[in-house]
Amino acid sequence: MRQTVCKVVFPAAGLGTRFLPATKAQPKEMLPLVDKPIIQYGVEEALAAGCNQIIMVTGRGKSAIEDHFDVSFELEKILDEKKKTDLLRVVREISDMIHVAYVRQKEALGLGHAVLTARELVGREPFAVLLADDVIDAQVPVLKQMIDVFEKTQSSVLATQIVEGEAISAYGVLDVKPVDGQSDGRLYEVFNMVEKPPVEEAPSNLAIIGRYILTPTIFDVLTQTQMGKGGEIQLTDGLRLLLKREKVYAYVYEGKRHDTGDKLGFLKATIEFALKRDDLGGALKEYLRQLKLD
Ligand code: UTP
Repeated sequence: MRQTVCKVVFPAAGLGTRFLPATKAQPKEMLPLVDKPIIQYGVEEALAAGCNQIIMVTGRGKSAIEDHFDVSFELEKILDEKKKTDLLRVVREISDMIHVAYVRQKEALGLGHAVLTARELVGREPFAVLLADDVIDAQVPVLKQMIDVFEKTQSSVLATQIVEGEAISAYGVLDVKPVDGQSDGRLYEVFNMVEKPPVEEAPSNLAIIGRYILTPTIFDVLTQTQMGKGGEIQLTDGLRLLLKREKVYAYVYEGKRHDTGDKLGFLKATIEFALKRDDLGGALKEYLRQLKLD
């Protein structure tokens, strides 16, 4: 029987150390790109891809995420009384958007461990993992592009992007072979992957990006995955074990990715998203122009 993907896991239990002190008492997933928290972009992408079962892996200090997707009676009442109907609609849309299940990762023991924490809620079915830090601006939501590939391959699919030069050393890098005549040359079969290799040892220029479609076998292999770098269970180590059991594909998605987990990436994304807005774009462009940067 052919399977499809309905559940999306959002690992959001990381400590967000790159954004300290902003993330001391608030989750980095709640930092806004213009006026919308980063995690909401990810949730909207999941919904646009047809997945309405959202599972968030959170930890201590992450209650703002739960509040954000919950009903806010007091705020709605005040907006209603003040006849701020546009704002009321925006606020209501968020809580009407989805039903979210939350699970706590008690210690930040790595991305692999965070995925494993969602095991009971996912069950034995294929599912997606979406790292909200990677905000991807795309005509067709990237998760939808990947689910389309999964529906053909019925195997795990990793999102990948070409990264040139030294920058590849910041990523998990894939050793792959192209699958001829499929998905406009965007589909590859994965044979191995290396975490953050020096550029001369990188097996390709294809970096793993924060969107994954995984079969439930990943849970079986993650329970066998040893603690790796920094005492964490790495998802890449689990994926390497998955490769020994099943085929895994990589798909070069169409879209522009912003790494909002990085300060410079966050600033660039903020500017690009603001420039696209009808209410802000013109004035911001004008402001940037008059800065007369050399
Ligand atoms: P990052 O590598 O970006 O780590 O995690 P981080 O803690 O969020 O941020 P920095 O590097 O300290 O600034 C990638 C994704 O995995 C989740 C994070 O929430 C993020 O979505 N994660 C990471 C967990 O859910 N649990 C973990 O133990 C580690």
